[in-house]
Amino acid sequence: GEKAVPGGNDVLVEFEDGIAWVYLNRPEKRNAMSVDLAREMNVVLDALEIDDRCGVIVLTGAGEAFSAGMDLQGFFRTTDAITDVERHRAYRETRAWQWRTLMHYAKPTIAMVNGWCFGGAFTPLICCDLAIADKDAVFGLSEINWGIIPGGVVSKAISTLMGDREALYYVMTGEKFDGTRAAEVGLVNQAVPAEELKDRTRELAKNLLEKNPTVLRQARMAYKYAREMNWEQAAEYLTAKGDQTTFVDTEKGRDKGLTQFLDEKTFKPGLGNYER
Ligand code: ACO
Repeated sequence: GEKAVPGGNDVLVEFEDGIAWVYLNRPEKRNAMSVDLAREMNVVLDALEIDDRCGVIVLTGAGEAFSAGMDLQGFFRTTDAITDVERHRAYRETRAWQWRTLMHYAKPTIAMVNGWCFGGAFTPLICCDLAIADKDAVFGLSEINWGIIPGGVVSKAISTLMGDREALYYVMTGEKFDGTRAAEVGLVNQAVPAEELKDRTRELAKNLLEKNPTVLRQARMAYKYAREMNWEQAAEYLTAKGDQTTFVDTEKGRDKGLTQFLDEKTFKPGLGNYER
């Protein structure tokens, strides 16, 4: 793994054939997320967005944890001890990468949940486009267990993927659950045995790397914004977004697709990609 930021060691990046494997890298602290880690992750994600070695990001954890949530020392105690303005800045830096940047990232993102996933770790998990988990990974909204509410934007994030009964059940009980259950409740796409986790994730990443990257970016954004709109707004926005996609697509995918299906009869859109 490469040190992504000079002097920093909380985030590691490995490049492999268009995939950037981004590791939360505090295994001895179960990848608990501190303010320092947030600062480093913001630099890393900002750099990878325009790095040609990265076509897809996989966010995962070094060692046995995905992430044990916010760092009770390096996030909670640390921000209790500073001024309100400094605290506001620390929260902003955490929200930046966990939510805003990942949610609106220019490249596709996959969370690979390799182990413990608690509390604040649900935010980056949910803000990645897709997620694959070890079926034995352990998830939990453990906030209630130590006397806080699922804050940050965790409560909002879970409401976008989980049904109210399931979300409130785990918010209120703090009960842990495994990767198989995480797939059932819609938090991850799929749960697989530990030994298949990296291969399955790589296979999914490679599938995405074969797509027209401009159209893939626009399709992800269109979905994420349209779900917040009413039907009238969504129809208008999606029509405009479709036109914009054709305009910004340097590959001219739509023209190629039409020609290859209608004129050349060399491919069927229902069955695979056009020839790029
Ligand atoms: N914040 C700060 N330090 C942590 C955190 C955390 N969230 N999670 C683990 N660590 C530290 C431990 O204090 C310990 O440090 P030490 O070696 O200096 O004593 C080290 O990481 C290893 O942790 P252990 O508890 O010894 O590891 P174990 O494998 O036995 O247990 C587990 C792992 C279950 C994840 C446990 O560490 C744990 O419960 N962590 C807290 C999980 C949690 O509820 N996080 C907060 C969610 S709420 C929120 O994010 C807003």
